[in-house]
Amino acid sequence: MLSTRACTLLGIRHPVVLGGMGGGTSPELVAAVSRAGGLGVHACTGRSAEEIAGLAGDIRRRTDRPFGLNLLLFLADDVAVGAVLAVRPRVFSTAWARREQDLRGCFARAHDVGAKVMHMVSTVPEATRAAEAGADLIVAQGTEGGGHVGLMGTMVLVPLVARAVAPVPVLAAGGVADGGGLAAALLLGAEGVLLGTRFLASTEAPLPERYKQVIIASDGHDTLLTEIPDIATGRVWPGAYSRVVRNRLIEEWCGREGELRYRRGEVLARTQQAREAGDPSYGALFIGQTAGLIASIEPAATIVERVVAEAEALLRQRAPALLDSAIS
Ligand SMILES: Cc1cc2nc3c(=O)[nH]c(=O)nc-3n(C[C@H](O)[C@H](O)[C@H](O)COP(=O)(O)O)c2cc1C
Repeated sequence: MLSTRACTLLGIRHPVVLGGMGGGTSPELVAAVSRAGGLGVHACTGRSAEEIAGLAGDIRRRTDRPFGLNLLLFLADDVAVGAVLAVRPRVFSTAWARREQDLRGCFARAHDVGAKVMHMVSTVPEATRAAEAGADLIVAQGTEGGGHVGLMGTMVLVPLVARAVAPVPVLAAGGVADGGGLAAALLLGAEGVLLGTRFLASTEAPLPERYKQVIIASDGHDTLLTEIPDIATGRVWPGAYSRVVRNRLIEEWCGREGELRYRRGEVLARTQQAREAGDPSYGALFIGQTAGLIASIEPAATIVERVVAEAEALLRQRAPALLDSAIS
């Protein structure tokens, strides 16, 4: 069975992690991934201490396997960090720190309650900063991914980060949705993968059916990097762009970002109306390029099991066959 240093560190059977996605994770999805032998991670950004305690309780009622809780650090204060650590998750999953934020102090608090720290980065300097601050695991997220991403591709970022932070283990994220992606990530020096978009198109993901159908319909070529969603909400992410599907909202404002800045109230109201009407064409739909690889909505456990089985088969059969044919 495929097992890596990340499996040992996180106490999981398979090196497959669910990205903690705001609005895209639920206790049901987290528990399904963890029960299947991966690591489920729930997004906690913007939630109260009571809500976080409720989520953790709900996950624990569904599984006794390890799980993680995620915070976007640039939006998190000491109270939010304390609320997450108070419920003692196995993994404290973090991303997008502000430049002046005290990562060392934050990660030490997690270690004090026995949690492992898994920090996501999109550049090498962010990775070395997190490793020096004591992160136990680094997630190297490439620009192919859904949601907020940087500009480096996964294929280049993963080996760069793995070399820069060794011996700290690295997970690959962004652009991985199948066993080929997992096998490739392992050969690039990663110890596993973190998947977002693939799990959004799962039975358990708490998204409207129409959002999931956008992923199924996408050929992967119809996503783009843009600042439109953040301009509309007025939120400044440290160094990130959004990867979203190119829909009516994006078409309308692409190239008119300056105008959007002063009309954002009106645009937000229209996105709200569209959401209430169940219309996915006028909202920011965060999906990655892997949408082109995703053809059906499946249970999360099926996704975990298939990704691992495919990777094992590729490593067992295709890799040796390539070497054999090179010899003969
Ligand atoms: C809708 C959506 C919301 C996300 N929210 C978060 C978040 O709150 N915290 C975080 O660390 N990552 C977040 N991410 C990023 C994912 O954790 C993950 O890195 C990314 O989806 C991986 O790329 P993939 O979509 O190609 O699998 C989000 C991604 C998506 C698609």
